[in-house]
Amino acid sequence: MQAVILVGGEGTRLRPLTSSEPKQMLPIMGIPMLEGVLRHLGLHGVDEAILSLGYLPDKFLEAYPTNECAGVRLRYAIEPEPLDTAGAIRFAAEELHVGETFVVVNGDVLTDLDLTSLLAFHRETGAEGTLALHPVDDPSRYGVVPTDERGRVKEFVEKPDRQHAPTNEINAGTYVLEPSVLDRIPLGEKVSIERVIFPQMVRDGVLYARCDESYWLDTGTPASFLQAHHDFLSGERVGKFAPGVLANGSFIHVKAVVAADARVSSSMIDAGVHLASGAVVTNSVIFPDVTIAGGVTVTNSIVGTGAILESGVQLESTCVIGFGEVIPAHSVLSDARVPS
Ligand code: GDD
Ligand code: MG
Repeated sequence: MQAVILVGGEGTRLRPLTSSEPKQMLPIMGIPMLEGVLRHLGLHGVDEAILSLGYLPDKFLEAYPTNECAGVRLRYAIEPEPLDTAGAIRFAAEELHVGETFVVVNGDVLTDLDLTSLLAFHRETGAEGTLALHPVDDPSRYGVVPTDERGRVKEFVEKPDRQHAPTNEINAGTYVLEPSVLDRIPLGEKVSIERVIFPQMVRDGVLYARCDESYWLDTGTPASFLQAHHDFLSGERVGKFAPGVLANGSFIHVKAVVAADARVSSSMIDAGVHLASGAVVTNSVIFPDVTIAGGVTVTNSIVGTGAILESGVQLESTCVIGFGEVIPAHSVLSDARVPS
């Protein structure tokens, strides 16, 4: 089975980490987010994935020179300009010659959804498209999807005001689609599947959806990126990590160097990190090759690859430090993005 993986967004909410690296190539527990997505799809019978690329496409091509990842064959569709979600699917499907039922996923979503069972539901109803839904507390950041008792979608409302959300069941970013959906999307045009194509399919009565309680997280904000790590560190979720040791709620990569009196709690310390004497890292994610000097405290923050935190620096919630940035000694930063 083929899957189109949407990975062409600019990841603006995760800047500056996404200024030089696409969101889906950022590491989750030391492994590119995309690999976790592909492994999950592979478990449910996807053997070929087309990466729908636009933003920083070379980063993906360089990372997978054998065109294979987690046992899934990779192909690439590089948009000449961002075509938005539906435009991107049409463009990618055209390159792949999709002719059978296929899957689409938002590449920034981590989930343990039972895709096999969603496919069975799709076949049972005879739908043209079937969406996975997930219940959330605040649906206003998502596509909100009320359904009837048979699972037929009554309405698709992308990012409504919180007060106007008709349900708390939201579009979880996994779709099973028939090839006929492609004919609804004009080729080469910028079109949103959430704002244009799904509402049209609702009007035609051919869109179905099913809510699923399994693990689900959109990693698109600093808070949710930290949450993705926390869920692994706390043991709530299991998965594949980089080589290292998970103990007492923290993960230390085998290639990290941590001083005996540095304190790490509920944090991810990646390869090549140097943590000097007296440093304190709490609820944070430290990317590879970061140098953290003595007396530094890092709380609820994400520090990008190769950054240097000089002695006595304090980072408080929620700081995001870009790749290779140098934070001068004794700086105190709270809720900061560097560079802003
Ligand atoms: N190729 C390509 N081209 N990919 C794109 C483009 C584009 O122009 N625009 C966005 N993407 C990719 C992003 O990289 C991401 O993987 C996916 O499409 C969804 O875009 P986001 O920017 O992350 O959207 P969102 O999180 O605000 O909302 C979407 O996901 C929610 C669930 O996480 C919507 O689908 C919502 O309805 C949904 O609830
Ligand atoms: Mg998203």
